[in-house]
Amino acid sequence: MDEQHAHRKDEHVFIAEKQYCQVAANGLEQVRLLPNNLPEISAAEIDLSTQLAGLKVETPFFINAMSGGSKQTARINQKLAAAAAQTGLAMATGSQSIALNSPAAAASFQTVRQELPQGIVIGNLGAGHGLHDAKQAVKMLNADLLELHLNAVQEIIMPEGDTEFFWSRNIREVVQQLAVPVIVKEVGFGISPQTLKKLKTLGVHYVDLSGRGGTNFAQIENQRLHEMDFSVLNDFGLTTAETLVASQPFQADFSFTASGGIRTSLDIVKCLVLGADNVGIAGLFLHTVLKEDIAGLVTLINTLKQQIRAIMTVLGCHNIKELRQVPYVLAPDLLSFKEQLK
Ligand code: FNR
Repeated sequence: MDEQHAHRKDEHVFIAEKQYCQVAANGLEQVRLLPNNLPEISAAEIDLSTQLAGLKVETPFFINAMSGGSKQTARINQKLAAAAAQTGLAMATGSQSIALNSPAAAASFQTVRQELPQGIVIGNLGAGHGLHDAKQAVKMLNADLLELHLNAVQEIIMPEGDTEFFWSRNIREVVQQLAVPVIVKEVGFGISPQTLKKLKTLGVHYVDLSGRGGTNFAQIENQRLHEMDFSVLNDFGLTTAETLVASQPFQADFSFTASGGIRTSLDIVKCLVLGADNVGIAGLFLHTVLKEDIAGLVTLINTLKQQIRAIMTVLGCHNIKELRQVPYVLAPDLLSFKEQLK
């Protein structure tokens, strides 16, 4: 295993966990759902199933990309995947780039498939990788889907990060030729409408908007870094609510995943109301598995499911599609943001 690279994976987990305690705003507090006082529905009728990159999933949220590439993160992957297996959730691994040339590192990702033999496993690579690497990443996990991450802000801050960002050709090639569907995702800075227009021309259909308000890779890399201060980028990007609102005109072109600072069942429901088909959760699940182990994470996941059912019941929505019809109002900041995009 490449020790420097493996150490970075451990640092990401350690700093993300420390950061989790400082709650940042994902913007969803600026979205208020209007109640339905005559729901005309039985709680037994609620169907939580939805689509994740064209695959049917029984739950509208999943474990997003975080872990793998070191001994510590292998153990975390194993625990996350065990919780996913017990609750029927899909799960993404962290970036597999460290494992492309290292069987020892590959094992730290393959533990996810071992725990989830029948479940949906999502591989992950940076968008700098081409078709050859993408095929290898999928094969490594027998993955059902592949996430390609766009993380220019993180890379530019990292002392050992990339400084050249020519990703469009890779994305087009991988999306067109890989045997499994591809989700293009951010890592917590949000995807802009201009980028969505570009992704459409590249043939992308599945996008994880991953906005600001949760795990903050500008802050994480700034804490790892000693020679240069890039904290000016700590608040860069779009919040989860902003990137979702900005994505609304593109709902016919893409199926969206919402992520970034999702901490509650109400956050999840609001993302679905704003137009996401499903929701990715990283920091909250990492925090829970580190503090409360597999059993604690299973309890949290089951609680979230029950709460989503309860919220859908009082909103009078039978299924995830009907959530899109729920009326809502936006607080002045978010409304102004939305109006200025027009
Ligand atoms: C991440 N994230 C991430 N994303 C990705 O595409 N590839 C990766 O390797 C990683 N690595 C990673 C490590 C750790 C420790 C965390 C917490 C997160 C980003 C993640 O998938 C997600 O997009 C953001 O973290 C925002 O969601 P949360 O954490 O606010 O729920």
